[in-house]
Amino acid sequence: MIQLTIDGQIIQVEEGSTVLQAARAANIHIPTLCDHPELTPYGGCRLCLVEVDGFRTPQASCTLPASSNMVVHTNTTKLQEARKFILTLIFSERNHFCPFCQVSGGDCELQNAAYDEGMANWPISPTYNPYPVDASHPYFILDNNRCILCRRCVRACSDLVGNHTLGMEERGARTMVIADFGLPLGSSTCISCGACVQVCPTGALIDRWSAYRGHVHESDVTETICIGCSLGCGIQVRTRDNQLLRIDGNWQTEANEGLLCETGRFQPMVENRQRITSPMIRKHDQLTPVTWEEALQEIAHLFNAAPGGIAALASTRLPAEALYAFQQIFAEKLHSELVTSTEEGKTTAHAAALARQIATPFEARLDALKQADCVLLIGTDLRASHEVASFFFKRKLLLGTRLIVIDPTPNPLNEFAHLVIKATANSDLFQTLQTSPTGDLATAAQILAQASHPVIIYGEGITAQPSANALQALVQYAHHIKASLMNLKGQANSLAASQYGLEKPFVLKGQSITYLALGDEQPTQHLIQQLEAAPTLIIQASHASALTARAQVVLPVTSWLEQEGAYISFDGRVQQAKAALPAPTNVRTNLAVLQALANCLNLTIENTWKEKLNQSTPAVQIA
Ligand code: FES
Repeated sequence: MIQLTIDGQIIQVEEGSTVLQAARAANIHIPTLCDHPELTPYGGCRLCLVEVDGFRTPQASCTLPASSNMVVHTNTTKLQEARKFILTLIFSERNHFCPFCQVSGGDCELQNAAYDEGMANWPISPTYNPYPVDASHPYFILDNNRCILCRRCVRACSDLVGNHTLGMEERGARTMVIADFGLPLGSSTCISCGACVQVCPTGALIDRWSAYRGHVHESDVTETICIGCSLGCGIQVRTRDNQLLRIDGNWQTEANEGLLCETGRFQPMVENRQRITSPMIRKHDQLTPVTWEEALQEIAHLFNAAPGGIAALASTRLPAEALYAFQQIFAEKLHSELVTSTEEGKTTAHAAALARQIATPFEARLDALKQADCVLLIGTDLRASHEVASFFFKRKLLLGTRLIVIDPTPNPLNEFAHLVIKATANSDLFQTLQTSPTGDLATAAQILAQASHPVIIYGEGITAQPSANALQALVQYAHHIKASLMNLKGQANSLAASQYGLEKPFVLKGQSITYLALGDEQPTQHLIQQLEAAPTLIIQASHASALTARAQVVLPVTSWLEQEGAYISFDGRVQQAKAALPAPTNVRTNLAVLQALANCLNLTIENTWKEKLNQSTPAVQIA
């Protein structure tokens, strides 16, 4: 620890802290613009100037290392004048006419900084030329006229996400943010994670939905989790008048450290499927709105007269409470033979079976990935399924972390990899990895052997294979090279569904009724085809689809932002999702629908979903 004095206050901080960090630790406010707590200090805007005894000129506190016995002053007359001058120059350089800007009125850090300094205007006439506005991106707009060249967006794209799409071109006053040496953002290598938009301090990068619909202080915020995949990213859902304004990453959540992917941040904003708002029964070949009572009675009637039995299928986007209720109704109480999930165990069944067999969890937590100095991806497309996880190693690839991809098909992360091996992952492959004296496999084995914290991420390339041999061989190989092993699984509650035994292949064997608890999952073409053979379909779903169109009974349920419930991340963290929006009238949560169905069938179901998660050994510890 070192000791310094800031504004007369004696402060102790860890060695390596900056003066700005020391001041913040002591609740001393220093204005900043280019600084962001999640980004490497850059020292570009100079707003954070402080005076230090013994220094001839003011210093940028965000990049100035704190040292022992330093005496710092943060609010002298000289500094106040310097800050006003800096802000004046920034305002004069581009189009910062606040009344015409969508973030004016509380959301702009530049405007707020000016107000803090008591500025109501700036004395220098702006002399700028218009700068380009890039509106080619489907989710956000880049307006270089509002840019203050803080490079937060560029640093977020490189240092946090590791995508390196954004950069700067030109020099001096002509400097501009660009994508890929000058491509329109919409056709650049941008992956639409939106980190740049979230860190932008002005109106230079704005999303297409929240502008002019209310400032941060006028909106309601719900801290919850994204259920786009099984990472369980923390999000802040901003709503106003019960409408969704924006989704931001929660910087405080360890799972994602504030980062999100396209699915988590932007896809909910473009949801335009038709909502189901009333229970319906097919009458005269037409789905006809009915009461809940009537719909549930119809289901009870159909169940009682089901000559071939009932098949039941649940979405792995449902909360754990609903999945467990579903399992109890159909597997335990109605003794249906085919009770499973929409993932059919493809992401979990082999791992779960192996964990039960060896009676010990063998997969690691997400932390291991953050520490990794070598990552081997086998048969998994993180870009499509769990993109935020890829940021944790992509951003370290220029700093020494190695990436090896083994995949029979082109993997979107190939372009970042040090070594790409086109191969199918089977048990022979892992044998060869250990023994091959030459070639790519030998190089891969060498890189892995040299790593201090190797991590192997496996996916459907292994879990969807007909036998579990490949997984067993992989577990042995990982053990041999002391690598952490992880399978990011499928949708938000893949692991919970697996622990409740919802992991059979869905193959209809004469069942006359299929009950599908689809929730808000968008049915895949594969699922639609599978259910073509189902004679009578009963669906609980939030949105209309090809499946609801041919159902006998449809029950309207909440979408993920309208319901609460537990989600078990791929690495066993139990998290609680909260409702951020009210459900439409007459629409019930997935759990409430299943409880009502149980009541109607005179079945008693328990609420012991948490205990049942550990009824068999999971592939990763659940806590
Ligand atoms: Fe320190 Fe910008 S905040 S230079």
